[in-house]
Amino acid sequence: MSLFSKLLAMMAVVTTVTALGGLQNIFFNSSEKDLLSLYSNHQPATLFLDQSDWPGVIKAGLDLSDDFKKVTGDALPVFNYTSNICTSVHGNVNTAIIVGTLGNSSFIDSLVSSNKLNVTEIEGKWESYISQVIENPAPCIQNALVIVGSDKRGSIYGLYDVSEQIGVSPWYWFADVVPANHNEIYVSKSIVKVQGEPSVKYRGLFLNDEQPSLGGWVQAKYPEGLYNSYFVHEFYVNLFELLLRLRANLLWPAMWASMFGVDDPENQYWANYYGIVMSTSHTEPLMRATNEWTTFGNGSWDYSTNKDNIVEFWRQGIIRSKPYDNMWITGMRGFGDTPITGGVEVGLLENVITTQRELLSEYFNGTDITDIPQAWCLYKEVQAYYQEGMQVPDDITLLWVDDNYGNVRRLPVANETYRAGGAGMYYHFDYVGDPRDYKWINTISLEKTWEQMHLTYEREAKNYWILNVGDLKPLEVPIEYFFSMAYDMDSWGQINTVMNWTVAWAGREFGAYYDDVEEIADIMDLYGFYASRKKYELLNTTTYSIYNYNEAATVLEQWSNLTDRAWAVYNKLPKDVQPSFFEFILHPVVAGYTVYDIQLSAGKNNLYAGQRRNQANYLAQYVQQRFQDDANWKNEYDTLLDGKWVHMMDQTHLGYDYWQQPMRDTLPPLAYLQIGEDNLAGSMGLTVEQSEGSVPGDDQYNAVAYSNNTLVLPVLDPYTKSRYIEVFNRGIFDVFFNATPENDYVTVTPSEGVILATNTSIWNSIFLEVTVDWDNAPDGYNIDYIDISSNSSYGFFGEPQVHLPINKTSAPTNYTGFIESAQEISIEAGHFSNNVSNNDTYYVEIDRYGRTLSGVTLFPVTADSQEATDDASYLEYNFYSFTVPQYGTNITVYTSPSLNANPYRPLRYAIAVDDEEPQEIQIVIDPTDPTAMPAGWETAADDGVWIHNTTHTFDGGEHVLKLWALEPAVVFQKVIVDFGGVVPSFLGPPETYYQG
Ligand SMILES: *[C@@H]1O[C@H](CO)[C@@H](O)[C@H](O)[C@H]1NC(C)=O
Ligand SMILES: *[C@@H]1O[C@H](CO)[C@@H](O)[C@H](O)[C@H]1NC(C)=O
Repeated sequence: MSLFSKLLAMMAVVTTVTALGGLQNIFFNSSEKDLLSLYSNHQPATLFLDQSDWPGVIKAGLDLSDDFKKVTGDALPVFNYTSNICTSVHGNVNTAIIVGTLGNSSFIDSLVSSNKLNVTEIEGKWESYISQVIENPAPCIQNALVIVGSDKRGSIYGLYDVSEQIGVSPWYWFADVVPANHNEIYVSKSIVKVQGEPSVKYRGLFLNDEQPSLGGWVQAKYPEGLYNSYFVHEFYVNLFELLLRLRANLLWPAMWASMFGVDDPENQYWANYYGIVMSTSHTEPLMRATNEWTTFGNGSWDYSTNKDNIVEFWRQGIIRSKPYDNMWITGMRGFGDTPITGGVEVGLLENVITTQRELLSEYFNGTDITDIPQAWCLYKEVQAYYQEGMQVPDDITLLWVDDNYGNVRRLPVANETYRAGGAGMYYHFDYVGDPRDYKWINTISLEKTWEQMHLTYEREAKNYWILNVGDLKPLEVPIEYFFSMAYDMDSWGQINTVMNWTVAWAGREFGAYYDDVEEIADIMDLYGFYASRKKYELLNTTTYSIYNYNEAATVLEQWSNLTDRAWAVYNKLPKDVQPSFFEFILHPVVAGYTVYDIQLSAGKNNLYAGQRRNQANYLAQYVQQRFQDDANWKNEYDTLLDGKWVHMMDQTHLGYDYWQQPMRDTLPPLAYLQIGEDNLAGSMGLTVEQSEGSVPGDDQYNAVAYSNNTLVLPVLDPYTKSRYIEVFNRGIFDVFFNATPENDYVTVTPSEGVILATNTSIWNSIFLEVTVDWDNAPDGYNIDYIDISSNSSYGFFGEPQVHLPINKTSAPTNYTGFIESAQEISIEAGHFSNNVSNNDTYYVEIDRYGRTLSGVTLFPVTADSQEATDDASYLEYNFYSFTVPQYGTNITVYTSPSLNANPYRPLRYAIAVDDEEPQEIQIVIDPTDPTAMPAGWETAADDGVWIHNTTHTFDGGEHVLKLWALEPAVVFQKVIVDFGGVVPSFLGPPETYYQG
């Protein structure tokens, strides 16, 4: 938003809200002031289009007319006009909508020269527009909403902005959003909507990895083009329109089994007609698809041995694409998106680029080569050539990349920040390759997208953002979020605006049908939070711990609650609105829950089988039933709206065993017990929290640590609520049991129970909660005993017993801070005691960032390197400890999986307890081989955190832990102080008791 429109927005603050598209100037309610009716009493305004304008503008104009019909039942009558607008109508027009692009519409130009329209704010600008009401723009017209674009897409965005404001979602077709009916539509006469240049100049998406889903769908829905491809213009025009409605402007077309320029000779024509800038993927120079080389190329794709043929191939690409708007990809990779050769080939690549530019100059003679948009993508090893000192002409946009997992690898530094061609980012929401594909459904956290793309923008990579969206369809919401940021960083680049955006989005799509749009937004946002913890493709039966911290059960319950909430909204929506809610929200939520349930319940089955519990068999069946649910849910998608999206969910997603997708969905191994036989140690078994083993009887986990009739609970202290023992049936006889603590101050609830052998349901075990009455417990550390007796035989073994270590500790009652419990302290980074700002930097908490609560990061992201001193900005965490481990206390810090976007300033943090000398930790250590990823990167990317440890020596009592981010872009997520009690889990221990 320009300053001018900002001021206007502030002046009009009572009547306007910031919608996704910026300033609101369209209203449905006539009680607003100063309104002009665009539709009321069944009277639509008259739309005037100039046939000398760009075809894309005419097309968007006709779409607007049609959008009015979707909303009101009546289309706008459309007239062609020339310089004398009154000759195109007979008689007078009360209200008109007049569209024109500066320089392409003589009428608009005449409004400017007669001072009726002031276009100073947009003239000569990129993709800008003004939308304002002008009185008497012509003798025959009383009032007109005039939409004037600085260029063709300026006009197009101005038109689609009205469409969006009257309630037609960009996703009306691609996600079946139903426009709400209105019988009155007004435009404000006083608000001048000046929409300035987009924040990022080129904003596009890449259809990629499009088999089996998108590819299957286009094959079912569109006519066959040439070379067995179905990616024909009848498909693409829908996508072009979507892109423009989303305020994007560029496309990397599908290229797995298709060739945009030849599959359908009309593809390029229509892209240009709509106003889309075409480009090709990072690996396809000069507008020619990889498969074109396979199909038409001569010899090998080896520039050092087959230069003539390759140059001729490129020449044809230029000749074919020259009539259209293109962003030319330069450089070269090896065949099939692989490195060009084994080593780093700086000289060869420089030669490639020189030749490519000579070719462009030859065919665009008269155009300065520096005025032809070109980009060079620094993907994987290509980044290494650049790091090795390869010279790239200054006008070529350097397209930096992420690690395919949404962590940007490199951003402009030093003089790269003011190159003429600027810089950009090739970012992934979908990926095929090592370490693992992720291409089924949405796994994107908008908060993380915000954090990384905000950084990208602030560090001057803002000429070109291109997003790999896989099949497009299951990623609707994150795609729009990405384009909203790219279009308007003033609004969406601000801290913690993700929820504002999501609420605005939910309001646009469902606000007319459902009052509580915050609920819809929260479901959507929580979905991204849960789904981004681990890609579905990487999730397995042991990702989350079943027996430590109740982790798997907690996570499953979160998914289950989310699913209930999504169904509750869905069931209250009108029938015709349900499909869009299904596509955006209900499908991914239920699908995600199902896959979580399958994996985590299979994990439980495996664990229970090891403990010989009858429930294992029930779980094996349950998992198979959930597997069927998964298939049925896909079928729901296939049959939605009479099969409109058939095949769109064909992606396999269960049974990954290496990076590539399984050829068929496959369940993890499930175990079955012989339930016709009793257990050698009797029908009653028990286990305890944090143990895989069970007693009585032999078992691999008991052999070393415990005896075959004793299990030991983790320590219980006053700051740990309780511990649990689980009793189950693992034989053929019904079990009656009693739990008897040795001392009165220990309580076990329930203390007795019955577990039938035949009832094998998932609930068929009993959790016994163990608590201590601390007033009556002895001081310090003691071991208590709980006898578990039963009617069961124990075979050759004895009656089982549970040992309960108790530790009566106490911190002063007036102490404020985290208190050690069970020999650990776990702290969410956002729960600092003090946030100390110095040196023009400060810490910002990013809500719902990361895996468990939030992230805390240093702002501004352009700040200098920091030092770990009291003069710098730092975070303080108060804690109280009791245990003093012999070899020091280990402190683990979880930070975001970010990479060293500035190689000269690697990500670092510092940590100190009390007044000790701060220890500095470099989070990411770049390898010397520039083609390699940093050690540990794969785990960090997969798990969503870097994990670093430091050791500290301090006594029991009150302490202050201090954390410094020594560079911006370090995002703290969690801090764990381990006095010996921490056990393995995925998310880390749940947060410890906080007093105060
Ligand atoms: C406007 O011009 C186009 C292109 O010449 C033509 O197809 C269309 O019918 C015209 N519309 C009117 C209302 O005259
Ligand atoms: C047009 O607008 C610009 C800036 O918004 C202003 O400086 C200029 O004076 C205006 N021109 C006229 C003729 O009003």
